[in-house]
Amino acid sequence: MTESSGARSATSTGARSATSTGARSAHETHDYDVVVVGAGGSGLRAAIAAHEAGARTAILTKSLLGKAHTVMAEGGIAAAMGNVWPEDNWQVHFRDTMRGGKMLNNWRMAQIHAQEAPDRVWELEEWGALFDRTKEGKISQRDFGGHRYARLAHVGDRTGLEMIRTLQQRAVDLGIDVYMECTVTRLLKSGDRIAGTFGYWRETGSFIQLNAPAVILATGGIGKSFKVTSNSWEYTGDGHALALEAGGSLINMEFVQFHPTGMVWPLSVRGLLITESVRGEGGVLRNSDGKRFMFDYISDYFKAETADTEEEADRWYDDHINNRRPPELLPRDEVARAINSEIKAGRGSPHGGVYLDIATRRSAADIHKRLPSMYHQFKELADVDITKEPMEVAPTAHYVMGGVEVDADTQAATVPGLYAVGEASGGMHGSNRLGGNSLSDLIVFGKRAGEHAAEYAAKQSTRPTASSAAVEDAIAAALKPFESNGGENAYAVQHELQDVMFDLIGIIRTGEEMQRALTEIEKFKGRAARVTVDGGRAYNPGWHVALDINSMLTVSEAVARAALERKESRGGHTRDDYPMTDPEWGKVNLIVTQTDGRIAIERKPLPQMPNDLMSLFEEPAK
Ligand code: FUM
Repeated sequence: MTESSGARSATSTGARSATSTGARSAHETHDYDVVVVGAGGSGLRAAIAAHEAGARTAILTKSLLGKAHTVMAEGGIAAAMGNVWPEDNWQVHFRDTMRGGKMLNNWRMAQIHAQEAPDRVWELEEWGALFDRTKEGKISQRDFGGHRYARLAHVGDRTGLEMIRTLQQRAVDLGIDVYMECTVTRLLKSGDRIAGTFGYWRETGSFIQLNAPAVILATGGIGKSFKVTSNSWEYTGDGHALALEAGGSLINMEFVQFHPTGMVWPLSVRGLLITESVRGEGGVLRNSDGKRFMFDYISDYFKAETADTEEEADRWYDDHINNRRPPELLPRDEVARAINSEIKAGRGSPHGGVYLDIATRRSAADIHKRLPSMYHQFKELADVDITKEPMEVAPTAHYVMGGVEVDADTQAATVPGLYAVGEASGGMHGSNRLGGNSLSDLIVFGKRAGEHAAEYAAKQSTRPTASSAAVEDAIAAALKPFESNGGENAYAVQHELQDVMFDLIGIIRTGEEMQRALTEIEKFKGRAARVTVDGGRAYNPGWHVALDINSMLTVSEAVARAALERKESRGGHTRDDYPMTDPEWGKVNLIVTQTDGRIAIERKPLPQMPNDLMSLFEEPAK
């Protein structure tokens, strides 16, 4: 392998570019060993690892470098460093993660994650991340839901931003090629093997092909399929859909995380995240009667480790060993359901949320120091001073636990040469992710994916090459919305899909509603095929949405079909018609595949956890 030819950002033309002939198929091509699709935390970490392993590496992002959902993981990176509570260690972190996911997690991923997260955090610090400190000068760690000890390394409430800043700086310093505002529409294959990516520049509409034996999907989640979400426009499930189309499989798609606290007012910012750190720093939830209602919602599963009086809950911040956790710090699925119930019961706030109060719990100085972004967010967007008044909050679609099915150690998908990482991959978080476990997931598995993809690429004795017919087909699919005269509007389909997903496959589900959602999705698919786009290819957002809705429909159908199949409630999947957690369903994952455009669901037994790890659950959960 040769060294990459250096940093080329947005308008890269590439030293190895070539132009294929033919009027409409003329486009640039570049050769790499590893192509990373997505430039959030996992994509950047994977690209750094692949580059350092000697692979010619490129990052493609449909957005701008630095603009990623990673920044919405504000409160911190979970890692058992033991800086605040020396009792913490990887075994406790592993146990918390598995219990948070209601034991449906891939145990090996959860083990690797808990073991390697501290090293990845220290590495970020070596690369320039400026973490908050304890009095002794160690990296400070804060409390979050479902974590036994305060273990989130943080930078105020802007941790994801600091992670992106650090990784981006390093990737640019290393001279990794970055293609910004480039959307991938197809994975190219040669026989069974991955051969690269095909896509287009959003600015000009011209096509671009990156040839590579290894492709890492780091495209993030699917939040944009839901009306109320913390996700921005990029998160349309592209990686999930690309993997399915290329013959890969998805796992755990029925599990969607609603972060308990999104903004509800003003409407223009509905869904915007309010970090869990507010509760981690002592914030409490109250209903319209002023009641701290979370004490009414402690499930049997977490009873032993959750305080049942305000006095004990409040003592916990000073003494985690002799006291139990406040119920506001139950895992997210439990808190989101509780808030939803209070609102439905008519005990909500004027704009349809509940109250999150930090003002009466911490001094204004502490709030400014520990939660500066939240202070500014509420002051500027809602004219609310959170040092004096409570916030109005309600659940917002934040994260999908489901993603590309990958090998735990390598992040390899079932298609040779294809890898997936971060939110685009599945298995690690089971039915529900603990807050803070996302940032650590990104860097632990980003590094592994990059290294293994580079190793795989180096081992290929022949370079896989996509056929010109495959490329022509990708071009025809991308241009179809210009050639259709069906007259459908891409934005209308997108908005109606978001309503259906939020209203019918949201926090609480029923079989009847999910059936209805599937009927609607079928109709949307018909309409999507008839979407017509006006204008040219340059600067054409209507065209971009017309292509995005295909991915959104694929992932929405995958969620709906898997959710309909799982006849129980667990984690981020709650059914009114099957309200109990069923031990039999705790033995299987649901796997989604696609053949000739048709989605199928199959059951797959969970891998057997070794006895030494099983024994960790025999100890008291406290
Ligand atoms: O609430 C938050 O700061 C989000 C963190 C996460 O999703 O991990």
